[in-house]
Amino acid sequence: MTSANSNAHDPQTLARLAADVAVTAGERIFELRARGVSVSASKSSEVDIVTEADRESERLIVEALLTARPDDGVLGEEGAGIKGTSGITWVVDPIDGTVNYFYDLPAYTVSIAATVPDASASADGRRAIAGAVFNPRTGELFDAWEGGGSRLNGSPITISGKRELTTALVATGFGYTVERRIEQAETLTRVLPLVRDIRRIGSAAYDLCNFAAGRLDAYYERGLQPWDFAAGLLIAREAGAAVVGHDEDTAPGTPFLFAADPALVEQLRSAVLGD
Ligand code: IPD
Repeated sequence: MTSANSNAHDPQTLARLAADVAVTAGERIFELRARGVSVSASKSSEVDIVTEADRESERLIVEALLTARPDDGVLGEEGAGIKGTSGITWVVDPIDGTVNYFYDLPAYTVSIAATVPDASASADGRRAIAGAVFNPRTGELFDAWEGGGSRLNGSPITISGKRELTTALVATGFGYTVERRIEQAETLTRVLPLVRDIRRIGSAAYDLCNFAAGRLDAYYERGLQPWDFAAGLLIAREAGAAVVGHDEDTAPGTPFLFAADPALVEQLRSAVLGD
């Protein structure tokens, strides 16, 4: 595994570490999946599940990152909350698409981003400067670092460049609570007639990466958590996307994240918000 000097904030080095650790964790959850999977707990609702593999993946990721860079912080979906002193906080989703993992659908990922504080960059006040998303079922490794473009398995990727909403294939996702889903279903009745079609793939990180690779024309979601989008947002931006929040004054994240070609993003935002 790559080791790095804790004081070095070189984005390319951080992206390599994110990628190495994401692949290691991804291979581990893939191995665990082959032995079967059971639900260990549920979170915001009965359908918001956590498996033992989510927990093991997060443990492995935290240990690998802090072994390489002991002064960094880590924020993880399954509870990691380590404050660092280096200025870098790793934002980690140990399995994004846990429901897909549970059903063995091939759309779950490990998502790891190195972030720095920046109130204007995202709703949680962090900006990713390097990140990687790995899908162990397909072997796809997406990575990006600030100013360095985005790659899929080492080859550069760019967004589709779609500028018309009527022919755009748009991905979205749904939260786990009944109240949130009612709002999301209402939004969908407005958006669906205005676009080519909708995809609900089940992993926000993978949605953003598929969008970055030109396989989707746009993506939006309400109510994402920082670990769902930290690496994917950077990968999408570095592939040419505009990623914005609810309005001019609100950074992407919670309540909303919209990602599209810079010439399409306002049409998407208006369609979703019903402006
Ligand atoms: C979920 C997935 C899903 C999105 C949800 C997320 P999880 O993350 O990314 O696609 O629609 O909002 O919570 O629970 O699988 O880590």
